[in-house]
Order: sequence, then structure tokens, then C-alpha cells
Amino acid sequence: MTNKAYDHGMTPEMNHDEIAREHAVRAMRFHLYSQVSQGTRGYFTNIVAPEFEKASGRALKDRQEVRKVMQERPYVQLHLSLQRSVQEVMWNTVIENIERQLPALNQRAKDCERKLGSLVLDDQLEIPRYVANVDIHCMPGGYDYDADHPDSVAAGAIYDRGISMYQRGAEGALGLSVIAYLQKNFPALKAKKVLDIGCTIGMSAQRYCDAFPDAEVYAIDVAAPCLRYGHARAESLGKKIYFSQQNAEHTNFSDGTFDVVVSTILAHETSTTAWQNILTECRRLLKPGGVMVHADLPQFADIDVYSQFLFGNETRYNNEPFWTTFRGMNLKAAMETAGFAPDQCFVDLAPMAGNEGGFTNTKVTTTSRAQGAKTAPGFGWGVQVGIK
Ligand SMILES: C[S@@+](CC[C@H](N)C(=O)[O-])C[C@H]1O[C@@H](n2cnc3c(N)ncnc32)[C@H](O)[C@@H]1O
Repeated sequence: MTNKAYDHGMTPEMNHDEIAREHAVRAMRFHLYSQVSQGTRGYFTNIVAPEFEKASGRALKDRQEVRKVMQERPYVQLHLSLQRSVQEVMWNTVIENIERQLPALNQRAKDCERKLGSLVLDDQLEIPRYVANVDIHCMPGGYDYDADHPDSVAAGAIYDRGISMYQRGAEGALGLSVIAYLQKNFPALKAKKVLDIGCTIGMSAQRYCDAFPDAEVYAIDVAAPCLRYGHARAESLGKKIYFSQQNAEHTNFSDGTFDVVVSTILAHETSTTAWQNILTECRRLLKPGGVMVHADLPQFADIDVYSQFLFGNETRYNNEPFWTTFRGMNLKAAMETAGFAPDQCFVDLAPMAGNEGGFTNTKVTTTSRAQGAKTAPGFGWGVQVGIK
């Protein structure tokens, strides 16, 4: 039995009980991130913040103060520990399903028909610490899990199933938000060579193939198990993508190869130094007049103080070491340090696909700061940084 919502040639098999369990975890997550989360916001706005103001004669000033007054409350402790538990339950659900069929999945990828794109792996590549040493967002083993196995697709399969629980089947939704942004802001763009960095299993890259049918789409990642899975997946979907295992900080592409360089939610999973290196590399790789867009989480300056507290918990309780630092970074300064001219760089605010009207893989709205959005109105909004 398969889950039709995200069917492709590598889709892991799921039995009746596994599908039921996945639905239960999704429902639990949805309840937590809608009902319970709103409850905690209400608790903060109507009780905790007014109590603080009454006692101290002033409003709470920043997320550190919010944390101080919130974390001692049993209701908040329950909410946050539930969030962590559901995250662990989610990955356990995924892991049990993948483990029981991993040899078959590895074989399926090995045997996949290869007639469109390509896959080039580099077993000498040093995996950066921020990938190798972190079970990012509690994903067991992280992106290069089982990397010592020469045919493993483990991390790719785990990620695919995990994303399905996060996004309810809207695979590639992040890529769609970049495409919508490009179409709105660069209507004359004719891409010939597109590079997607930190592609994982190529969900967004697949969307770039559709959006730019005349372009060659290249996709890089450091994690071989994700790339093996992504390549087999793309071939089965009829998407021509040239995958290679490379560190985006220093790639082997020639200067000025690409007219479009993009990434989706890569930046906040790197580090301050790595992100700077990646921007410098993007500059080297872009053709004159090329466009770069990186879509990621909204900055702290774009969200209210309660959301700052809530999202900051990702670093504390969800193995996202760079998440908080990234949200406070001066993104424009980083691009300028990479050598881009100040008037080329933009830092905008736009919905990540899936925000408005729920997670959908067909419709992306593109209200941006330039078009009047002042702050991110809720979960699902992100920053789009880049050069024009
Ligand atoms: C959150 S995932 C990206 C999701 C993907 N862009 C999508 O739209 O589905 C981050 C990915 O970036 C990769 N990554 C992190 N640092 C990297 C680097 N320096 N070079 C290449 N890939 C990197 C990780 O291995 C991981 O697969």
C-alpha cells in the first residue's frame, strides 16, 4: 500500500497500520500547532503579559524576558514538552517504517532506470560539522545517516516520509514559493542554468524543472544518502536533474556558470561562517546579471515577541543550533560582505508556499514587504534574500 499523496518510484511502502499511525501523528501535530499553540498565545497575551506589566509597570521588552516569565508556567512546560514528544513520535514512526524495508529501498534506487539526469557522488567529501554532528530537527542520524553504506538511501527516505508529515503531501512547496517570487519579481527571467543548493532529495529542484522547462537544473547537497534517493526519485518522475555531492561553500563549477542560484531553508541549517562562504560561492557561480534567491525563516524583526519566544524554542528543544542566530543576522550585510553591490541585494518578506489556505502545492501568493506586508502574519512566512 502506498500513500497516494506523494507517490513516486521511491515511495516507501506503507501497510495499513503505518498509514493509520502517520495520520494520527499528523493530526496530533496539527492540533498542537494550531489549537494548543493558539492557547499558549492567548495565555501569554491575556494572563502572563498583563501580570508582568502590573507587577513591573512596563511591558515585556524582548524574547529573553518572555522566556523567563513563560518557562516557569506549567501550561507552557506541558506545551513545549508535548511539542518535543510529538516530534520524537513522528520520527519514530518514520524510522520503523523505513528500517523494515531499507535493503529493498537501497536496491530500488540502485536498479532505477537512469536516462534523464545524473548523479555524481564524492566519497572523499568532508561533511561539514553542522550537518555531520547534528541530528537536525531531531531527525535521527541527520541528513547523512547511514553514509558509510555505499548504496544507502536511508536519510533520503526518512526525510521524504518526515516532510510528508510536516507538509501533508505538499512536496516541493518551498520551491514553489521561490518560483512564485521569481515570476512576480523577475518576470523577464529566462533561466538557462539553475542551481539548487542544499537540495536534499530534490523536491524543490523538481519544481524548477517544471517552471523552467528550457533550463538545465543542477542540484547539490553534501549528503549522499539523500542524493541517491533524490536521483532515483527524480528519474521516476521524469525530471531531468543533474545531482552532485558537493559542499556549497566550495563547489567545482566554473565561474559564472548559472543564471539562477536558489536555496530553500538551507541557510538556517548552516552556520555564520558557512553561510558567508556560501554567499561568496554563489557570487562566483552567478553569470553577470544572474539572480539569486534564498528562501528561509522570517527574521526576528519580522515577527512578534511571542512568536520569537516560540520559534526560539527550536534551538533549545529541536536540535536547530543555528536557527536562532540566523533569525537575528544582518542578511544584507552578509551579501555585501560576499561582494554583491548594496543596491543589488534585497531582503524581502513573502509567504512560503503552503501558508495561505493551508499547505497546497498549486497556489502560492506572493505578497511581499515591497507590496505592503509589514510583518509575517503567522507560521509559514519567510524571508527571501538574494540579488537582482
Ligand atoms: C532543510 S534541507 C533543504 C530542503 C530542500 N531545499 C527542499 O526544498 O526540500 C537542508 C539541506 O541542506 C544540505 N546542506 C547543508 N549544508 C550544506 C552545504 N554546505 N552544501 C550543500 N548542502 C548542504 C543538507 O544536507 C540538507 O539536505
